[in-house]
Amino acid sequence: MPVTVVIGTQWGDEAKGKISDVLAEDADIVARFNGGDNAGHTVVNQFGTFKQRLIPSGIFNDKTISVVGPGVVLNLNTITTEIADLNSRGIDINDRLWVSPRCQIVMPYHKLIEELTEKAKGDLKTGTTKRGMSPVYADKVSYNGIRLFDLMDKEKAYKKIKTQLAIKNPTLEAFGFEPLRAEDFVEEALEKFELIRHVVREAFELMHNALIDQSNVLVEGAQSTLLDNTWGTYPYCTSSTTVVGGITAGLGIAPKWVNRVIGVAKAYMGRVGNGPFPTELLDETGDHIREEGQEYGTVTRRPRRCGWFDAELVRFSSMLNGVSEIALTKLDVLDKLPEIKYSTHYEIGEDNQTLRYWEGDADKLFECDPVYETSEGWLEATSEIREFENLPENAKEYIEKLEMLMGCPISMVSVGPSREETIII
Ligand code: IMP
Repeated sequence: MPVTVVIGTQWGDEAKGKISDVLAEDADIVARFNGGDNAGHTVVNQFGTFKQRLIPSGIFNDKTISVVGPGVVLNLNTITTEIADLNSRGIDINDRLWVSPRCQIVMPYHKLIEELTEKAKGDLKTGTTKRGMSPVYADKVSYNGIRLFDLMDKEKAYKKIKTQLAIKNPTLEAFGFEPLRAEDFVEEALEKFELIRHVVREAFELMHNALIDQSNVLVEGAQSTLLDNTWGTYPYCTSSTTVVGGITAGLGIAPKWVNRVIGVAKAYMGRVGNGPFPTELLDETGDHIREEGQEYGTVTRRPRRCGWFDAELVRFSSMLNGVSEIALTKLDVLDKLPEIKYSTHYEIGEDNQTLRYWEGDADKLFECDPVYETSEGWLEATSEIREFENLPENAKEYIEKLEMLMGCPISMVSVGPSREETIII
């Protein structure tokens, strides 16, 4: 059966873009099913370095079709800029990009509503990427969304958007913002839409024919399991379904077609935005990992919080997604550390009871104590190594230890950002 899904097992930024790019070489179709331009997938290949926000990484292979599924929310400025950038660097998208007309569109009022909500929440704010994600998904589930379908007809677009402004403007004004006028942004949205009209087409049939023909379909998850709207560290999470099950609603692929789920996990933990992070390092080691790993948000450039590997969390993500193998990334970031810790499980309360991730909410994670084991570092550069056998003994031991704790085989180890810097086990 032909579908491989690449899913993040932590809080995002696990280098999913790189793993997808490696796998996209053999894919007939590469598709996305969730999130929007809050994602930033870094891809380094023969064409250069790209920060893909909306278009799947299959776009770099001239025989591969890229699909933006209906579960993705679109910022029209981002997608048109991304297409223009690809075109200017010699990558033609016209015959190979399919964007679902069911995609919801991020409107200017979504960003304002997000801004006022985050401000009003004060200390309890999520620390979002400020791309309007939660208001656009909230509009979708409350039947207030504007979809690409709606922009196909100017009159319909104006009518629907004016209705939304009648609903949204009173809230904006109550929070001290100027009310929005449809005339100020709808024409621009329609112009941007015209630039992509030829690629707005439903890929449902194309994908189903490909599945029946046993073609190779690669699905790229955006954000990650611990940011999932239901199973993540709510309310410090994102607004889409980020887990494997999201592909049915977000892309139109039934579960029976999925035969390979690759969970991507960094060799340490990272998080951007607020929320619990039991193994966070607020010391020089955390700073060292941030600098070595260049842990700064792709979208926001915010410094990412860094910490030791957390087996309880990645084990949970593997169980939830039915992960069949793990791609362990950024191992090289740990090359210079004399000692490496990893957390095996959590304890909570005075009697040190074991806490499983799924038993508590985000507040419980703030309270629990991770239990650590320590590995000796390998203190050698690993970026040029291409065979597992050639890794330093301590690095091999660390990988094997994590594999045992996650209960899942590690099939790939990434030791640098480019396609070549990958060890296939
Ligand atoms: P939103 O998705 O912009 O609403 O942000 C919600 C939370 O998810 C915040 O903590 C963000 O930092 C986080 N987040 C959203 N997208 C990504 C991503 O692609 N990588 C890492 N964190 C993300």
